[in-house]
Amino acid sequence: MCGIIAVTGHANAAQTLMAGLRRLAYRGYDSAGVAVHDGESIARLRAAGALENLASLDPESLSGQCGIGHTRWATHGAPTAENAHPHLSADAAIAVVHNGIIENADALRAELQAEGMTFTSETDTEVLAQALSLAVSRGEALFEAVLALMPRVQGTYGLVALDRAAPDQLVAARLGSPVALGIGGGCRLVASDPAAMVGFADDVLHLDDGDVARLTPDSIAVRSLDTGERTIEATTLTAEVNDAGRDGHAHFMLKELCEQPEAIARTVSGRLDARFGTARLGGLNIQPRDLIAFRGVKLLGCGSAHIAAECGAHLIESLARLPASAEAAAEFRYRNPVIERDLLYVVISQSGETYDTLAACNEIKRKGGTVIGINNVIGSSLARAVDGGIYLHAGPEVSVASTKAWSAMVCALGLLALYLGRVHDLSPSAGASLVKGFEALPEWLEQTYALRPAIREVTPLLTQARSVFFIGRGNAAPVAREGALKLKEIAYIHAEAYPTSELKHGPLALIEPAVPTVVVLPDDELLDKSIASLAEIRARDGKLIVVTDSDDTRIDAAAEAVIRLPKSHAALTPIVLGMGLQLLAYETAVALGREIDRPRNLAKSVTVE
Ligand code: F6R
Repeated sequence: MCGIIAVTGHANAAQTLMAGLRRLAYRGYDSAGVAVHDGESIARLRAAGALENLASLDPESLSGQCGIGHTRWATHGAPTAENAHPHLSADAAIAVVHNGIIENADALRAELQAEGMTFTSETDTEVLAQALSLAVSRGEALFEAVLALMPRVQGTYGLVALDRAAPDQLVAARLGSPVALGIGGGCRLVASDPAAMVGFADDVLHLDDGDVARLTPDSIAVRSLDTGERTIEATTLTAEVNDAGRDGHAHFMLKELCEQPEAIARTVSGRLDARFGTARLGGLNIQPRDLIAFRGVKLLGCGSAHIAAECGAHLIESLARLPASAEAAAEFRYRNPVIERDLLYVVISQSGETYDTLAACNEIKRKGGTVIGINNVIGSSLARAVDGGIYLHAGPEVSVASTKAWSAMVCALGLLALYLGRVHDLSPSAGASLVKGFEALPEWLEQTYALRPAIREVTPLLTQARSVFFIGRGNAAPVAREGALKLKEIAYIHAEAYPTSELKHGPLALIEPAVPTVVVLPDDELLDKSIASLAEIRARDGKLIVVTDSDDTRIDAAAEAVIRLPKSHAALTPIVLGMGLQLLAYETAVALGREIDRPRNLAKSVTVE
């Protein structure tokens, strides 16, 4: 999604901006631009499409030490060069880059038009540039103008503004969209993602909602709309850079699939207690005597993180015998949820910046609930908002379609379920067996990855499909949902997921040869029932692709293709089978020649509602 980078005090600001934009590109964007102050005026370059289009305009020829840059993911207005950021006020006095959505942009625009101002783009951001230039033209300093404008703006923003009258100054503000400030030798920076500042900044400060900051090459001043002047403690910038390259892999998604065993090894590393058959989760900041008081668990996330939450709910109910349920964070936050003191809330997000997940977390906190996070990006907004949590340590995930982070989420939730289970009634021997399972998990995933050539052979059954059903029962039902989501996302094939048991209540009507079914079939107590359902699909000429860890020969008799994955621990099959489905979606998308890492219309980090 949109990304911001800004710098003041760097010999060639444009060079820093372009390097930062390249780091932000993985989040998804459809246009980009930079504006640099050359000491007298603000020069700007923008281009639709890939960053190379902007690079071909030779931005580094813009001389100046202070500038702002942006990658845009269209919300208001088409992805054209005119709508790309930075936006300049009509008098070219103010340039603004902005992430988020200004909900009352139309009303503000109408007010400004009544003052005689004209607009050149359809974006909400231009409204901010114009409003600020009007204030500055009336004698206000930009910092004060931003402080005065922000309370009138409804919606969300992370923004940086440049003022023609102050050649070395940046003004940044945050409400609901991340903004980090960087301190480097002789320069100060602003970015929506600290990773964009690696190599330029040594220390980082995170703005909170309602903060407005003024930066010069050697100073940072922050004022909160709520509490006035404030000091933010700087921490060492430890963000991982996302531009490590694909290491010879055709796509980042493939690299991340390949990295999955080591990513999972890091998620469990230091967290297993073989002696007592439990997990060590010090980051939760909850003692066992407090944990035992929770009567249930509510898990929240968006997209794949929501599906991981569903897997987590299964794991927690079966291992800890605690009622657990999952819900889409965006729905939860808007239904004025009842927050219960004896429920443990778990918010799940790879990026830690997903707007709806963050808003759900804040709603729980406002109402006095205890909320822990499952999160990959250290120091992200979510990680800083929760009472405690579990970092995934999966390493940077660049591909828009989540793979290793999804598996790491389910893995971390498995650790939580084990820990909760052992606090409740899970026996030491059952706990010890699961600990062994976690230890073996990287190896099972290694074996799954090695099956890639066999999985590739199955893809002709899907590339020809008009639509695909994914089905599964018990803990395989959410895995089927994840498989369908992956196929939709990167192969652009319509796919729907159902619990196997629901098929005959309606969807069976659509089964025919051009609508194959992918069956997620763990070797569990429901196996016989699921095999019976295969016959129902066969009887309607439906084609079956079975993804299983069972060696039951009835499956081979019924299915067009069987993807046989390693047998693992019952609680961990969602991760192994889930990886099989990730590979299936990947190979199908490759066979169809899709753009794997940046699927159309999608962004890596959804920082708007
Ligand atoms: C799907 C996918 C998305 C994300 C969702 C939440 O492959 O990647 O559905 O899972 O946008 O993102 P995070 O986990 O960053 O909150």
